[in-house]
Amino acid sequence: MSGTSPRILFVDGPNLNVLGKREPSVYGSQSLSDIRKAVSAAARKEGATASFFQSNHEGEIVERIQKAREEADGIVINPAGYTHTSVAIRDALLYCGLPAIELHLSNPAKREEFRKVSLVEDVVVGRICGIGGYGYVLALHALLHILKERGGRARR
Ligand code: DQA
Repeated sequence: MSGTSPRILFVDGPNLNVLGKREPSVYGSQSLSDIRKAVSAAARKEGATASFFQSNHEGEIVERIQKAREEADGIVINPAGYTHTSVAIRDALLYCGLPAIELHLSNPAKREEFRKVSLVEDVVVGRICGIGGYGYVLALHALLHILKERGGRARR
């Protein structure tokens, strides 16, 4: 970990830019910007730095995760629809080597069969699902705890 302020990157996949308007009965009424505000406030309290990236494009997500290898200490990722399909995002997580938390607003285990498959579940430290937007704040705390326990050994 660089210095004393852990750097956590939040990566959100496709259709999460329209959170709040998108199937609110499933994903809630908070926008991504509402969630980011809550995460930033929690990060400030903890003396951590949170940065955010959202894209609807698989290759852009891959490139951001690759860069995180040099720029972050941990990743919280909601790969959204790519959770269930993307070998490329899985491979990027392996390349970046950072501890990562997989996050879903909904609980995929309670939904359609195809959502029960995650191509990243075994390359992350753990998963947070079904807690809505507050899950992002929980994921921040979880990663900070993990980094602290590892005593700065950020690599997976
Ligand atoms: C999601 C669950 C995915 O199955 C879905 O494609 C999403 C959002 C969630 O946060 O619950 O876009 O990752």
